[in-house]
Amino acid sequence: MSEEKKLFKVTIDNITVEVEPGTTILNAARQIGGEVTPPAMCYYSKLKNSGGKCRTCLVEVAAGSTADPRPMPKLVASCRTTVMDGMIVKNITSERVLDARAGVVEFLLLNHPLDCPICDQAGECHLQDLSYEHGKEGTRYEFKRRTFKKHDLGEYIQLHMTRCILCYRCVFTADQLTNKRVHGVLDRGDHAEIATYIEKSLDNDFIGNVIDVCPVGALTDKTFRFKNRVWFTKPVDAHRDCSKCCGEVQLWMRGDEVFRVTARKDEWGEVKDSTKGGLGWICNECRFEKKDAKDWTIEGPTQVNRHSVISQGHYVNVVKPKETLPDVMGGRGPKLLMNIHNVSEVNRPEIELSKIQGPAHSDDFKNSLDNGK
Ligand code: SF4
Ligand code: FES
Repeated sequence: MSEEKKLFKVTIDNITVEVEPGTTILNAARQIGGEVTPPAMCYYSKLKNSGGKCRTCLVEVAAGSTADPRPMPKLVASCRTTVMDGMIVKNITSERVLDARAGVVEFLLLNHPLDCPICDQAGECHLQDLSYEHGKEGTRYEFKRRTFKKHDLGEYIQLHMTRCILCYRCVFTADQLTNKRVHGVLDRGDHAEIATYIEKSLDNDFIGNVIDVCPVGALTDKTFRFKNRVWFTKPVDAHRDCSKCCGEVQLWMRGDEVFRVTARKDEWGEVKDSTKGGLGWICNECRFEKKDAKDWTIEGPTQVNRHSVISQGHYVNVVKPKETLPDVMGGRGPKLLMNIHNVSEVNRPEIELSKIQGPAHSDDFKNSLDNGK
């Protein structure tokens, strides 16, 4: 008989949840969901060793545990701190946390350009969301922003190093998903940058996933670059038979045109599990080379949960207002209002003028002798 596992009780912003020992505060908060969940710019639950780099997930531990209820003196990174039984955590209920988070956002924006109007990540950028929520109006930074030598990462992936926040997610992705990582963080401190050292293109089969994990617009899809604003496109779930990956994707469409293909994401912006088992990472062929709607079986509109502008164009379960014109116009819809064929003084309703052979002739119209009509 298996022994019943003891769960730890943790209270976050006055909401108590029971979680397994070893769960981090961030993941416990994710089980509650909503605003109680701290933002995470570098932690990515599907990538081993991620987290601990950006400090956006800082929280206050008001009581360490039932056994030792002393508060922790400093704010802690919730993605790296595991819960204890009876722990009390404050996130949005703590002034200290909100103040620190505003400071972290200010630091992240020290060098990050505010080029959202031309950035392909706009509308789905976690830093953009964070800046709206915690950012300051002005900057106190007086120095020249960092600039970098341009690195060409190949035909599919565009690197904008000035936008990078050095979260390491793309490095872990390349390490854990591809056979051979050829890029990484070079140099340290102010000079640290994502690069390939000796000019190399990122072309491993699964390397396109670095675009999906990048929380900002530092790594973007060259096949989608400057083509459309993401909130004008409609995401739909689609799949195809693929020998390399699960083939389950999200198509970003406008009309019948496929503008972009990405992996499916969950409410935290992380890749979803595939219905075939394992994680839904997708291969380069599905992402970059299948841009025809005919390549895919479309399942239906994607549920967009994140509070981003993409959900502004949400079109699932839309209730259309009742069309009243046909009721008052004898069944004719708005497009047919100018069609006076049946009600005209001169037409014969039984004759479809567009279908008669040759030019119309006086017999095809009513005349004054037609029974006085
Ligand atoms: S390029 Fe993007 S994913 Fe890679 S370290 Fe920079 S911000 Fe993170
Ligand atoms: S998400 Fe926790 S430090 Fe970045």
